[in-house]
This record gives sequence, structure tokens and C-alpha cells, in this order.
Amino acid sequence: MTGDTEPAVSVVDVYTRCAGDYADHWGAQLTARGRSLVDAMDLRDARRVLDLGSGVGLNSDALRAAAPRAVVVNADGSEGMVRRAGGPRVVSDAHLLAFGDERFDAVLMAFVLHHLARPLVALREVRRVLRDAGRLAAGTWAINPDIRADRIWTEELEAAGAAPGPPFNLGFEATNSPDRVRSLMGEAGLTVERIDTHVMDDPMDVEGFLLRRTRMGVQGWRFSQIAPGDQVGFIERVRARLQELHSDDLNARETAILTWARR
Ligand SMILES: C[S@@+](CC[C@H](N)C(=O)[O-])C[C@H]1O[C@@H](n2cnc3c(N)ncnc32)[C@H](O)[C@@H]1O
Repeated sequence: MTGDTEPAVSVVDVYTRCAGDYADHWGAQLTARGRSLVDAMDLRDARRVLDLGSGVGLNSDALRAAAPRAVVVNADGSEGMVRRAGGPRVVSDAHLLAFGDERFDAVLMAFVLHHLARPLVALREVRRVLRDAGRLAAGTWAINPDIRADRIWTEELEAAGAAPGPPFNLGFEATNSPDRVRSLMGEAGLTVERIDTHVMDDPMDVEGFLLRRTRMGVQGWRFSQIAPGDQVGFIERVRARLQELHSDDLNARETAILTWARR
């Protein structure tokens, strides 16, 4: 997409920037939920499986184990992420998939829909590339955690004059409850068979929080906009404030919504 109002940096640019850190500083949090999605898909007879928004391919092992007869294709809008995945891989925007009709027995979308500007368009694309009765498993988020540590982080970024980041969770409002996911999938012509929710604690110590926020996602991108000579002082100020907090203020507790649907 182009235009005067588009931010200079997109969601996938942000992922490309932090691709090398993704597995260590965020992806590992998600793999248990990714495995839950895969394990309930019954892929024993599948021949072609698409991991859409595959990132660096952290769900590949689970998919290959669950679908031993299948080719597992990784597709992601971020070149920097998908180039780290193994096996067949392609750069593809979820809104306009680079695949023919009815090519896949199953599609996994693990924590991708909440990033998409038009999640309904992407789900219609998923329906298009699925064979009749093909399966989709998708993970989304119900809660955007609002913890004190992040409020401090944001206050200090503002005080340092860091440029605002690009909108990052563009599809969050459309996908942040089981009812919303069900209705979106229904609109896309997919039949939801099951939805589970899982509360996920994400406790961080001060150094872990600083590592994550300086390197990952849109927060890492904002941090990178601070002049290099000011970054050390910035971290020292934030660290001093974080050290005053209770451990609950550093626990970004989220609720994952896991959905299984059929074309
Ligand atoms: C939270 S990561 C999840 C990655 C992987 N599914 C996992 O579970 O580790 C979200 C992924 O969605 C990708 N993504 C975001 N917007 C996209 C788009 N429009 N088209 C394709 N992929 C997109 C990002 O590049 C990133 O790899």
C-alpha cells in the first residue's frame, strides 16, 4: 500500500528489523500455543499445509510431526522473518496470497490476524486457498496488556521525543473476543468448530523487560529512533523507575484465543 498518509514503516518492516531476536525474545512465548493449535488440527492425511504469517518458522517442527505426509509451506509478509524459516518459504502478504485456489488441506495462522489491516480480506484469501472441508487454526489476542512498566516505558519515550511507531495491531479490534473471531470467520465463509481461551502469564524481570522493549516489535523500533548518544541515559532512567515496581507490574498477562475452523 502506498499514499501520503501511510506510515513510513509498516508492521512487516518492524518484524524484519527484529527478526534475528524474535525466537529468543518473543517467539518462544508463543510456541506452546502454536503447538496447541497444531495438535488439535488432525493433519495425519494432509498433503499440503500452509503456515501463514509463519515468522521464522517456529511452528514448523510441530506441523511436520503432525502432518508427516505433507509439504509445509511457510509464508510471511516479512522477508527478514521468513528467510530464517526452513523448508519451502515465500514472502506473501496475507491479504493477497501468492497461491492458486484450493491448494492447501490446512492453514495455520498463529498470532497474525491481529496485525492485519483487513483481517476479513485475509480470511477470504485463506478460504480461497483451502480445499473443500480444509482446516484453519488461528491464534489471536483478547487483551492488550496495560502494565505499569509499559506506561513508564512510554512516558520516557515521549519525554525523549521518540517518533511514534507505526500502528501495529491493526486487526486487534476485529479479533479480540471469541464472538468477534467467530463472526469474522463466518463472514469469510469459514465454519468455526471450536474456540478455546488461555490466560498466559508473561513475567519479566527488569533486565528482561529492557531487553525485550529495546529490541522487539514497535517498542524496539521506537527505541531505535532515539539518538544513539542518548540511548544509554534513557535506559538508565527507565531502569531506575522499573526497579521501584512490584513483580505484577512487569507481568504482561495476556489471553490467547485459539480457534479451529473448516471451509
Ligand atoms: C507474532 S508473529 C507470529 C509468527 C509465527 N506465526 C509464530 O507463531 O511464531 C506475527 C507474524 O505475522 C507477520 N505479518 C504481519 N503482517 C502480515 C501481513 N500483512 N502478511 C503476512 N504476514 C504478516 C509478521 O511478519 C510476523 O512474522
